[in-house]
Amino acid sequence: MFNSGLITALSKHETPFYYYDLDLLAQTLDAAKQASAELGFHVHYALKANFNERLLKHVLEAGFGADCVSGNEVKKAIDIGFDPTKIVFAGVGKSDKEITFALSQNIFAFNVESIQELHIIDQLAANQGKKASVALRINPNVDAQTHHYITTGLDENKFGIAHWELADAIEALRSCPHIELIGIHFHIGSQITDLNVFKSLCVKVNELNNWFDERGFRLKVLNVGGGLGVDYHEPDARPIPDFKSYFTVFSDFLERKAGQEVHFELGRALVSQCGSLVSRVLYVKNGIKKNFLILDAGMTELMRPALYQAYHHIQKLSPVPAGTTKDQVHYDVVGPICESSDCFGKEVQLAPSERGDLIAIRTAGAYGEVMASHYNLRNEIRYVYSDQL
Ligand code: LLP
Repeated sequence: MFNSGLITALSKHETPFYYYDLDLLAQTLDAAKQASAELGFHVHYALKANFNERLLKHVLEAGFGADCVSGNEVKKAIDIGFDPTKIVFAGVGKSDKEITFALSQNIFAFNVESIQELHIIDQLAANQGKKASVALRINPNVDAQTHHYITTGLDENKFGIAHWELADAIEALRSCPHIELIGIHFHIGSQITDLNVFKSLCVKVNELNNWFDERGFRLKVLNVGGGLGVDYHEPDARPIPDFKSYFTVFSDFLERKAGQEVHFELGRALVSQCGSLVSRVLYVKNGIKKNFLILDAGMTELMRPALYQAYHHIQKLSPVPAGTTKDQVHYDVVGPICESSDCFGKEVQLAPSERGDLIAIRTAGAYGEVMASHYNLRNEIRYVYSDQL
């Protein structure tokens, strides 16, 4: 991805910044679009992964819907131009104000996470003389086999309605005249790389689909959420996730009833690989036990390593000095923030480095800039887009 022309162009910019390769983004969106459209599947892009406007415009052009998790995300999606009939709104803690706003915009559906929320949406829809479309988010108790902080579909997680509450949920629905149940919704976790996990999800969805059908609910939508993982270790070997295999699992294992639509909410898989955090070495500190590369980017720009001990491939963009190799020295690559967890990678093997060298932290397009903070009163995030070079 980073050829010498690109590196020269990038080296003219003040660091740190997020670099977005809009061609790779377009190719990724195309691949997802093709693979899903062939099977008649609908994809909503999960804005939480990255709500950068340049990226959102590409997602919109590709024809995806939007999966939002706050009133502000709903508003952002509408402002960018997403059709409200292709917007879904999820989240365990939707406020009255957010629900009222989303109702006023006539969004496609609320993914409802509790019986209490059903009653509130019913009341707020009544205030507007409307009927709200909802999908019940059900916690299927399927282990996503990913980092426990990004697992969401187990009984111990706060998300969704538990199996044992479903009978009560149906009772509640019958007493909510301003709610129309259109479907069921699931999301079991993120960065899932073992496709067998999605087969287990399909088995649960089929059981529940039948359960609702037996009780007289004709569901229009089966929403299976997002979660497809990406290759953080070798971003250049696999820049575009295998969407075909992913969607094929659902076409093979999900039992659709006549007329039912299948919806997805992909975030990471669509935008991760097109983004890199580009930074410069400020100082090289050779300690007794460790060598440190101190960068001008830190956990304030990319929090995933500090928060989840997430691995990101770290690449030196500046030339490898003559007579050395590209993996000669072990460095702990750290940021300037006053926290020991402000570390992008330990014992990273790189060519000998010096002040001013350009470093890229790869696969940073999802859950990167959106999770940035102002801690230590850091600067606003800067960007460089491939079409500006
Ligand atoms: N739908 C729902 C209801 C979700 O909660 C999420 C992500 C998605 C869809 C999109 O999932 P994806 O396709 O991106 O895996 N900050 C963490 C990831 C948190 C994911 C939260 N939910 C990280 O940096 O790894």
